Amino acid sequence: MHGFVDIHCHALPGVDDGATSVDMGLDMLRRAAEEGVDDVVLTPHFRADDGAQRSQQLQDCFAQFADAVDSAGIGVRVHLGAELGFRFGLAQLIGSSPATRLAGGSYSLVDLPPGPLSPGLEQAFFEVRAAGYRPILAHPERHRNLATDPDRIDRLRAQDLLMQVNAGSLRGRFGRRAQAAAIRLAESGKADFIGSDGHDLDKRPPSLRSAYEQVVELAGPEEAQRLFVHNPRCVLTGTPVQEGQPTLSRERPGMWARLRRRLGR
Ligand SMILES: [Fe+2]
Repeated sequence: MHGFVDIHCHALPGVDDGATSVDMGLDMLRRAAEEGVDDVVLTPHFRADDGAQRSQQLQDCFAQFADAVDSAGIGVRVHLGAELGFRFGLAQLIGSSPATRLAGGSYSLVDLPPGPLSPGLEQAFFEVRAAGYRPILAHPERHRNLATDPDRIDRLRAQDLLMQVNAGSLRGRFGRRAQAAAIRLAESGKADFIGSDGHDLDKRPPSLRSAYEQVVELAGPEEAQRLFVHNPRCVLTGTPVQEGQPTLSRERPGMWARLRRRLGR
């Protein structure tokens, strides 16, 4: 099993709460390679109060780490990206440096702060789209206010906001509520990507394979291919993603219903 592209991973060492050393970053990439990942976009946090110097810092760190990855012969291609904390002026930030975009292309990964949702979200994402970029929301299933507000998710999707669900959420690593929300997004065709959001080797590993097998079992191999291979590769090539279809629960009603009952939904 090969060809996965992980668009969300904190293996770039020493720049956020992910890998703490070059060796640990390399070990995370070895784990990803073992799981069939061919390409990893390294997405260190870019917080709302970070300035332009953060872009330069990340580009410098990436250049050094990419050399180490090459020398180690791991067999994974690495790309620079970022996980942007939501801020006003998001469109200007994304336009300011390729380091704020995934693999320097047109897609950007954005994380919302916890708590009540800003009434300005839709306008901010509209501005990003109007500037020619494609925003992707990182793990909406983990955001309590958003995960429980399907109308808001629909309004954001109407602004062409894409959704990246965490593999660990599907596996239940972040609790039942996040797992139920992740499954709901996937079964309704509202998930566009599955990423690892890997931070380390134990609690939040850069793992995709078990979630891939789960989606194959629950939704079929075509949907798994769309979420783990096709769409994340579009991020690298700068091509439009394939939209999901809400067909999953109709195809496998018994299995989904059993899982929902188990999760108490
Ligand atoms: Fe992350």
